[in-house]
Amino acid sequence: MYDNEQTKLLQAQTNKWLNAGSKEITAHFIDDLRNILRFHEYRYYVQNDPLISDAEYDVLYKLLERFEKENPSLLADDSPTQRVGKGLVSSFPKVQHLVPMLSLENSYNAADLIDWDRKVKELSSLAEIEYCVEPKFDGASISLIYENDKLSRSATRGDGVVGDEITINTRQIKSVPLNAKFSSYGIYQIEIRGEVLINKNNFKNFNDKLIEEGIPPFANPRNSAAGSLRIKDTAEVGRRNLEAFLYHVSYITTTDKRQPLTHSGMLDMLWNLGFRSPKKEALVVTGIDKVIQHVKEFENKRDTLTYEIDGMVVKVNDLHLQEQLGMTSHHPRWAIAFKFKARQATSKLLAVNFQVGRTGAVTPVARIAAVAVGGVTVSSISIHNEEYIKEKNLMLGDTILIERSGDVIPQIVKSFTELRTGEEEAIQFPTHCPVCGHLLFKPAEDAVWRCININCPAQVVERIIHFVSKDAMDIKSFGEANVRKFYELGLLKDVPGIYQLNYEAIGQLPGFGKKSLGNLQDAIRSSKTQPLHRLIYGLGIRYVGETTAKTLANIVDELLEFTNYSEEQLQQAEDVGIKVAGSIYRFFHDAENLQMLAKLQQLGISLTNQKKQVAGTGTPLAGQTFLFTGTLTQLKRSDAETKVEENGGEIVSGVSSKLNYLVVGEDAGSKLEKAKKIQTIRIISEEEFIKMLPVS
Ligand code: IVH
Repeated sequence: MYDNEQTKLLQAQTNKWLNAGSKEITAHFIDDLRNILRFHEYRYYVQNDPLISDAEYDVLYKLLERFEKENPSLLADDSPTQRVGKGLVSSFPKVQHLVPMLSLENSYNAADLIDWDRKVKELSSLAEIEYCVEPKFDGASISLIYENDKLSRSATRGDGVVGDEITINTRQIKSVPLNAKFSSYGIYQIEIRGEVLINKNNFKNFNDKLIEEGIPPFANPRNSAAGSLRIKDTAEVGRRNLEAFLYHVSYITTTDKRQPLTHSGMLDMLWNLGFRSPKKEALVVTGIDKVIQHVKEFENKRDTLTYEIDGMVVKVNDLHLQEQLGMTSHHPRWAIAFKFKARQATSKLLAVNFQVGRTGAVTPVARIAAVAVGGVTVSSISIHNEEYIKEKNLMLGDTILIERSGDVIPQIVKSFTELRTGEEEAIQFPTHCPVCGHLLFKPAEDAVWRCININCPAQVVERIIHFVSKDAMDIKSFGEANVRKFYELGLLKDVPGIYQLNYEAIGQLPGFGKKSLGNLQDAIRSSKTQPLHRLIYGLGIRYVGETTAKTLANIVDELLEFTNYSEEQLQQAEDVGIKVAGSIYRFFHDAENLQMLAKLQQLGISLTNQKKQVAGTGTPLAGQTFLFTGTLTQLKRSDAETKVEENGGEIVSGVSSKLNYLVVGEDAGSKLEKAKKIQTIRIISEEEFIKMLPVS
């Protein structure tokens, strides 16, 4: 898309703009600025290799936005600012696809592929066929139409013939260019097909947030992507960080014959025009044996990808031959999907138990007949709340379909109501807390029933378990089982009690030798100086997940400062809305909570923001950015990154002039090569990095 010369030129222009700021901008230069922003979107969203920091991009974006606001006559529909959400859409009009969106025939093993290859050879009278093999992206399919180089329409698959027109939402997907120079290939109208995805990381964060709010999470990234495309609040679509792979051209109107003659050539063309096509993921091979070898190899890589795939697609590479082979009413004869091992399985819903969480939420948990799915055995699944049970129409005794994709917690996809015998029973929701017997309560705006007795033993135990957990205070060797045991024996009553344990009594318990007791004591002692964000997260304030805890920790020098914050002030913090601010405010104005914090402080637990203080006194890493590449041998990558952050440094996502240190492990690849070209980056070994850390 951009060769070296253009890249250098655009980067030089970027720096000029960043230095000059708003002084430079005139109507004459507006297109230059737009092109620069498009270039950086491409580097970030398509190539996954940004050259500037997010903050620098924002500076340029805001410049353009301001200028367009002051000069409305210069606004253009394909300006990078025009992806921004335009409020609420009332409905999505139905539109007909230029060519029906067909499905693919499926294959599940080598024999199926050999069979299909034989048919292709028979139909084409060729001895061997050239195939293009690419991932089968597990998302929601879309079609895009470009006319005169501009994105003119986008639609969901719908029933294959008619779909929903969702152009306004597709414009939010940054890897979909709003304009592309198809005219340079002699094309003035083109329909492209692809898949919209939400990557595993974003999906997990998104689901975690839903769970935090008591909303049932999505079963898999596919459902989440499909749901996101049809949201009526376009700004929210933007916040979902959707991605798109474009893999098929279904229709072309041309002025001449400059277009590629092969499928892989089409992928190249799309890539060159700024689309994220699977050019790099695709492999062209001759003969079905090589196809079989490749799909098997790729299946092993499945979990290392950042997005979900559910198989591979094998396509006849020669477009002329594709046309000759044609379609059935259901699928093209020139392509076949090879499906990977299913991550779904059927089971039986045997019983439902009700668990009380640390916030008092009563969660129904389905006990199911044990079944292996996605590499693990599943015997219980959270079914979230009463509404969810109704929505999924679940009954005791039902045959159910469950799914566990990647590292997502297992979910019930549906129940097979057609298999009911009449013996099934309705799931009864309790009216009283199954642990303390208190009457349950459901606030109008809430989806969950709660036990509002804050001294409910179940809640107390869950709060302590949360406090000691890995992502909170990380008190190793404590664990859920010990919390339960100590609580039952009356050795632990509340969170401060962790720091007042009677070790003599614990030493008498079976399984507690000198060594394990010593380990527990050490772990508890060292948790007293955990960074403030871990303590905040550990307190279990409603709606405050790990990210918000980090944001909050960065605001104050001392935790109790929050007692002086108003709800409005709290809302100034990133990602803290009315609901979250209200919850934080209430927490810091509750007498019992304040008593607990005072007790913790008395017991020697640090309530201060050590990081902020250390950074201020000039830690070696303060204000420095780091990136790790290759395999580290002494530290785990995640631990090394935590160390950077704990010592005031920052982790960045790619090699750019913003990077100060590239830490190189074994078998470092392209990042190292790239870093060598940027003079200001210091390239250091893992040992050198460790030496930079304060001695602990
Ligand atoms: S080609 C005319 N290529 O899988 C057929 N489809 O199960 C064009 N899919 O409806 C489809 N990755 O939504 C093709 N690399 C890929 C794909 C892919 C995912 C989806 C697509 C299709 C479905 C069929």
